[in-house]
Order: sequence, then C-alpha cells, then structure tokens
Amino acid sequence: MADLLQFRKLPDEALDCLYLATAEGGSPLEGLALAGADRKVIRKALEDLGVQGVEGEVLVTSSPIKGFKRIACFGLGKAEEFTLRSLRKLLRRVLEQAGRNREYQIAVALPIPPRDVAPEDARVLALTELALADYRFDRFRSRPDEATKVDGVHVIPLEGEKEDELTTLLDRARRVDTLVRLARDLGNRPGNDLSPSTFAKELTEMFFKSPVRATVMGVKELEKEGLRGIVAVGSGSAEEPRMVRLEYRAKKPRSSVVLVGKGVTFDAGGISLKQAQAMAEMKYDMAGAAAVVAAMRMVAEEQPPLKVAGLIPLVENMPSGSALKPGDIITMGNGVTVEIDNTDAEGRLILADAMSYAARLNPDILVDLATLTGACRVALGQEFAGMFVNDDGLAAQLERLGRRTGDRVWRMPLLPEYRDLLRSDWADMKNNGGRWGSLPASAAFLERFVPDRVRWAHLDIAGVSDIRRAGNGLPAGATGFGVRLLLALLDEVTST
Ligand code: BES
Ligand code: MN
Ligand code: ZN
Repeated sequence: MADLLQFRKLPDEALDCLYLATAEGGSPLEGLALAGADRKVIRKALEDLGVQGVEGEVLVTSSPIKGFKRIACFGLGKAEEFTLRSLRKLLRRVLEQAGRNREYQIAVALPIPPRDVAPEDARVLALTELALADYRFDRFRSRPDEATKVDGVHVIPLEGEKEDELTTLLDRARRVDTLVRLARDLGNRPGNDLSPSTFAKELTEMFFKSPVRATVMGVKELEKEGLRGIVAVGSGSAEEPRMVRLEYRAKKPRSSVVLVGKGVTFDAGGISLKQAQAMAEMKYDMAGAAAVVAAMRMVAEEQPPLKVAGLIPLVENMPSGSALKPGDIITMGNGVTVEIDNTDAEGRLILADAMSYAARLNPDILVDLATLTGACRVALGQEFAGMFVNDDGLAAQLERLGRRTGDRVWRMPLLPEYRDLLRSDWADMKNNGGRWGSLPASAAFLERFVPDRVRWAHLDIAGVSDIRRAGNGLPAGATGFGVRLLLALLDEVTST
C-alpha cells in the first residue's frame, strides 16, 4: 500500500504527477488548497489543454510549475451523477495509470464528493477509497508486478481544511484501509492455504498479547459443547473443524455485541457436490469470518466501552466416506434436531451452532455475516447484501450505515410463513426447503437459533463478498464487504 501523505507545500523534489479531476463545466482547481503553487499558471496550462470534464476524458500535460513533473486531468462527467462507484473507478484508474507510468510519488486531488453518501462522511470515505485503490493480492505471485507500485500519494487539502483535521481523516482512512485489506487478503487466500486449523492458528497469533482474547475450540470441545452442526459439516474433510472465540470486555461495557462470521474455508458442497464451473469461487465462503476478524482487530486497537465477541465457526465442506449425508439427522447446540436434505446448505448449520452458543455471552445485539445462498446473489446481485432482522430499529440503523459506508444492505422478509418450507417428516426441521423462497427460508432456519430477547441481523453477503472480474472500481476477488459496516455499527453502539 502506498503511503498516504498530506500535501502542504510544493516539494523540493518534484512529484511525478499531479492528478486532478473535473466535473463537466467545473474547473480543476476549484475547492483545492494548492499551497505555494501558481494557480494562474496551472489554470492557463489546463485551459490550453482543453479540459472539459466529460466522463472518460484523460488529459496529460507537462507541468508549468516546479513541484510536479506533469499534470493529469480526469473527467468525471456530470457532478450530480458522480457516485461512490464512479469515485472508486476513478481512483483505480489513477493508481493504475501512475503505476504504468512508473510514477512513484503522486499528488491527488479529490474535490467532488460522491452524491450517494452523506456529506459528513464523504471526505473520509473518499480518502479510504484512495488508500484502497492500489489493492492487489499478490501473495502467490513469484514476481509481484512492480510496475503497479506507487510509493507515496500526497493528498491535496480542500480549501479551509486544517492540517490537523486532514491528519485525523488520513489516519482513520489508513486504519480502515488496513482492515479492509486484511479481510480481502483472508478472503482471497485459497482453501489449501487457509484451512480451518491454519485460520484458527493465525487468529491466535494475530490477537496474542492484544486486549482481545482468542480461544480455539477443537473437535473435542465442540463435541463437549454439543455443537454437532459444526462437527457434522466438518466430518467430511481431512481438515478438522474449529470454532474461534474472540472476546473483548471493557471495564464498564455500555452494551454487548456478538458478531458471527461464516467461515467455510472451502465449500465443495459435500455429498451434495457442487458443479465444477463455479466451485473454485467457494474459497470465498469464509468472507463473513474475514469481516468479523477485521472488526475485532479494530476493537483490539480502539478498545471501545463495549463487550464485543466474534464467533467464527471454521469448516471445510467436502465429500468423503466420513461426510455428512442427505437424510442424516443431527442434534444442534440448542437441542433442535435437523434433517439434512442437502449437504450444500452447510453454512446455516455452522452459523446456527455459533448463534445459539452466543446466548452465553448475553448479547444485546447479534449480527451474523455469511455467504449463505446463491439465491441472494440472484436476487440482489453485487449491489446489496440481503438483510434479515428481527428489530425495525436495527434494520433502519443498518440501512442508514450501509448508505454511509458503501456496504449497502437491503431488507428481506423474516416471516414465520417461510418456516413451513423447512418442515421435516422426521426431525424438527430440515436444512433446505427447495428452490422457491430459498433465500427467506435460509433466514427462517437461522431464526430458530437466535437467543431469546436478542436483536439480531443476518446479512447474506453471497452476492457482494467477491467479484469474478475487476469492475466498478473493485479489483477481482474478495471485496472486504461488511468491514466498514461493522465498524460503523460498533462506533454507533458505543456513542449512543
Ligand atoms: N456458499 C454457498 C452459497 C453461495 C453460492 C455463495 C454462490 C456465493 C456464491 C452455500 O453454502 C450454498 O451452497 N448454498 C446453497 C443452499 C441450498 C442448497 C439450499 C445454495 O444457495 O444453492
Ligand atoms: Mn454450500
Ligand atoms: Zn457455503
């Protein structure tokens, strides 16, 4: 990741490029505090260049002033149509172009706030997007692509933006950037690199000597606690299942929050084996767990006056002679019996156990994140996570925070009618109710495992956790969805 710096005066050694952006009919220097620079001279050069601001326009000129080697101006299109997505696209283009041109030190101006985020959050959001704009996953490349590496990004302050204000915002952006990268890196790691046991081990190392205590439960402890859902799903794999508890407790906690993240390190479907085409994508089936880990890292750093726990059930869902079979009946952690109709509906089994286990942590709020159903991806695509929630206040809050952070959620129905789909002839429930209503049925399943009197939100992130091909300003692979939403939620729970 490039260093995010603050541009306060013209540097002695010229920066490689100054990146400006203009909306249609706007002027590239509007609203910027370009200290020490001769604005008139720059304006003249840009006029000569014929900057119009139409979308897709990229114009480059050598810089008329010392301090920069050249100036590039990007067109944004109409200001009123400029969104978070356009901003992401723009910033990725800027960092790609800088990398290609081997520009190591660049200055970037972000004058126009996206129209679809709250104005008070626009600046920090833009800075975070800037920090993330050069994200790539090259853990497994023997020769990481040096051409794409910018070392320093100098942010041009806005007019009237004080140094310490921008320092605070940059600091926040850097920290959020680190956490989103952490979640993306975890998500992008393939199943052979990140298995339940290595994931668990890395978490104990990550939180070692931190205010967050990490405890790993192996098969023995899972059996002892009766968490048969996790054990059963894990039984088909040579990789043993785990559950990791990440716990933090402030001296006088104002509230108690439990976060549960689906951690299927690879989902082959089990005996109900998936088709080959999209199977590799199932390495992302632990994206919920990754978001929870990132949120707990923030908790470790900021130590909010809360009690917060992250529960992370970790399994690999594989077919084998010891695997769970359709027709099997298992008794879950809370005593509910489940007939297995389809072993590919494994996420709800491990989440259910973690959620009922959460009861002993006495949460006020329980939030789970899971790449749970293909149906959610079909319904909402890549734009929204599906949200099921048993409390209107929490629903409204998450919708609002989704708009503020860019991790947008869309509410779906949580209704007793859908429980009927899960009726079993032999057990209390079955784990799959067929194609119709498969999205709300998955939530109806989970609802049986929510501890009493707990405000609960289930976020199905199957559509938003990863993207196959780079687009819309996001790199291919894991998106880190949910990290910013969880941070915002914890922030708000702390302050209200
Ligand atoms: N991990 C998958 C859901 C998924 C599908 C995530 C596509 C991302 C992209 C989940 O475990 C699964 O297999 N769900 C089944 C459930 C069905 C058998 C009831 C599904 O949605 O097809
Ligand atoms: Mn599955
Ligand atoms: Zn799955």
